[in-house]
Amino acid sequence: MSNFVKIKSKINKFNKKLSIDGDKSLSIRWALLASQSRKKSKASNLLLSEDVMSTLDCLKKLGVKIKISKTFCEIIGLGLNGFKYKDNLILNAGNSGTLGRLLLGLLIHSKKKIKLKGDKSLSKRDFLRVVKPLEKFGAKFISNHGKLPIRVHGTDYSKPIRYFENKGSAQCKSAVMFAALNTSGETIIKAKKSRDHSELLFKHLKLPIKIIKNDKYDTIKLLGKRKIPALNYKIPSDISSAAFFIVLTVLSKNSCLTIKNVNINPSRIGLLYILKLMGVKISKLNIKNYKGEKIADLIIKSTNNIKPINCPIKFNSSAIDEFLLIFLIAAKAKGISYFKNLSELNQKESPRLKWGSKILNKIGIKNIVSKDSIKIFGNPKLKIDKKIIIRDFLKDHRVFMTSVVAALSFGGEWKIYDKNSIKTSFPTFLKRVNYLGAKIE
Ligand code: S3P
Repeated sequence: MSNFVKIKSKINKFNKKLSIDGDKSLSIRWALLASQSRKKSKASNLLLSEDVMSTLDCLKKLGVKIKISKTFCEIIGLGLNGFKYKDNLILNAGNSGTLGRLLLGLLIHSKKKIKLKGDKSLSKRDFLRVVKPLEKFGAKFISNHGKLPIRVHGTDYSKPIRYFENKGSAQCKSAVMFAALNTSGETIIKAKKSRDHSELLFKHLKLPIKIIKNDKYDTIKLLGKRKIPALNYKIPSDISSAAFFIVLTVLSKNSCLTIKNVNINPSRIGLLYILKLMGVKISKLNIKNYKGEKIADLIIKSTNNIKPINCPIKFNSSAIDEFLLIFLIAAKAKGISYFKNLSELNQKESPRLKWGSKILNKIGIKNIVSKDSIKIFGNPKLKIDKKIIIRDFLKDHRVFMTSVVAALSFGGEWKIYDKNSIKTSFPTFLKRVNYLGAKIE
């Protein structure tokens, strides 16, 4: 089967209800936390994507018992510091930064030398950002300048740390929180705002965690070595996957879409705040609280008059995975939009700030990109009638799916490679696009 898609026409107007796959951040965290309990934990609507499967594979190699079906997953964990370390153990995080970094936090006591590796994209990414704080607990990590593969030499006795996380990286914060779980005493983290799923799960499990919130930073105090109870969880839908359909609806003509049960955790909905400032109206219905997470149905309508934005940097972290899509909205805005302090975007599965600019160039939208910012000269009359090829993007799932949204919204004749990349985070993406009326094979 070919590993590209061809798209030759825009999507026709649609008015539908859609459901979206489970949240990736929560699926990975659920599995890692369940592995730290001795009880049986059960999850439904777990995301059945490659990143989550890599998580389950790593845990199985560490001796954790896992049962999985299409509708639920059960994990009987080994308790704190309970992993079984075999000789010459190699763990493969695949494409997942979240898995690679959070798992290192759980490996600080490994009794044997183990190797963590990843795919080509993950092996280009920075792991020093987690290795440095994790070394303060007492473990050793051997690598080539903080890149995978990394060899972990665990410590017998870890000590709690104080850590200042200043990138706004939930992965760094969570890696340290996971190490702190397995360490006696109080670890104190001062962290720039970032997604707070780990904190909410710890609170739900009634672990001794205190959070003091400030404007820009949260201080997290966590007492380790407390027994982890079972974690039964129904994973809500992923706002970062819903985002492709939100933006497709906004950019399509006369369309309306309802997306059910989306996780609208405030630390994840930068896209919604930014779209609101750009004149897009999205309604939230049936807002519920589920074990600390906020869930709602979203109703999105096509929008004609998109306003440009000088994007406040306070939304950078909560929209971090959605900027490629936000750039498409800016391409259709009436005026110049500006996005800054976005160097973290180039630290993702591919250098996404660069890819955002490349996609805009391909669709004929003038933009000026620097190391950490982009200025986009929007064109409300944007129409494409040329051939566009998208390839060699390190199989970045979000580059693939953003390109599909651009093709269906703006027209032109597109050939987009690496369609298997959707398996990383959103395996049913193409099926759901076709359900709205596209005809992509
Ligand atoms: C994630 C955090 C973000 C995000 C990634 C998932 C997580 O990365 O980009 O897709 O689950 O913690 P950073 O924390 O490195 O910004």
